[in-house]
Amino acid sequence: MTNTDSFSQMADDVTGTSPVASFAVVILAAGSGTRLGYGIPKAAVQHSGKTLLEWALAGVDASGVASRIVVTVPTDDTALTNIAADYGALTVSGGSSRAESVALALSALDNAPVRSGFSSDAPSHVLIHDAARSFTPVEVFHRVCQSLSSGQAAVIPVLPVVDTIKTVDADGYVRSTVQRSVLRSVQTPQGFHFKTLLGAYRQAEEQGLSDEITDDASVAEMCGIPVKTVLGDFRSLKITVAEDLALASALKLADELSAVSEKD
Ligand code: CTP
Ligand code: MG
Repeated sequence: MTNTDSFSQMADDVTGTSPVASFAVVILAAGSGTRLGYGIPKAAVQHSGKTLLEWALAGVDASGVASRIVVTVPTDDTALTNIAADYGALTVSGGSSRAESVALALSALDNAPVRSGFSSDAPSHVLIHDAARSFTPVEVFHRVCQSLSSGQAAVIPVLPVVDTIKTVDADGYVRSTVQRSVLRSVQTPQGFHFKTLLGAYRQAEEQGLSDEITDDASVAEMCGIPVKTVLGDFRSLKITVAEDLALASALKLADELSAVSEKD
C-alpha cells in the first residue's frame, strides 16, 4: 500500500463515506502575552480597531476552509469567548502550556458546531493556528490544505532563514555554525490528518507534555510521522513583542486582511 493509499484509507475511516478532506481549525488564544507586556491576554490586545483574536478569526473565515473552529481562551475570559461565538466557534479554557492547550482543543473538537455552509461529517483534518499570527494571508491556509488534500499527513508553512545561526555554550562562546541552507523558520497554521495528530498528542501526553513543545509538527515528528513543508509568508509574522505590532502597522497588514475579508 502506498502512503497515499493508506492516507485515503485513514480519511475514509474518519468520514465514513468519502476521502474528501474537510478541515477543522484550532486557534490558540489562551496565552498571557507576557513578552508583549500589555498586562492583558495577547489575543485581547487591540490593533487597527479589532482584537488580535478577531483578526485571526477574520483570516480563518476569509480562507473559507474551516468547517468547525475551536478557540482556546484564558479561563473565564468572557470577552474572548463572545468574539469566538460571533464566528460560530466553540471555546475551551486553555492549559498551562501551548501544548496542553492544543491537547484540550483536540479533545473538544467533536463538540464544535458545524459552521454554516459546511457538511456535518467529522473533519478528516485539523489545522492548528496561533492567534498571535493574526494576519496570516489566506494563501498560506490554502497551500497547507492543498498539500493535506494531496495525501500528506502533516504539513507546515516555512520560510528560509536569512541570518547565520550559531549554537553557543553556557558561557556564551560559539560552539558551531549551522549550515543555513537546510534551516527553515516555521509558522502556523500547521495541518494534520486529525486522527493521526490526536494519536500523536495522546502518546506525547503519556510521556508528559513538555513546555518545550512550541509547535505541533514536533509532536508528529516524535511519532515518526513525515512532515511536509510548504511556503509560508512574511505577513504571517508572530506578534510576540511590541515591535511586532509596530511592524504590522508599518506593513498595513490589517488593511490588507480587511480588503480580503470584504471581497467574500
Ligand atoms: N497559547 C495558548 N495556551 C497557552 C500558551 C499559549 O493557547 N498556555 C497560545 C497563545 O495565545 C498564542 C500561541 O499559543 O496565540 C503562541 O504562543 P505565544 O506567542 O508564546 O503567546 P503567549 O504565550 O501569549 O506569549 P508569551 O509567551 O509572551 O506570554
Ligand atoms: Mg508563550
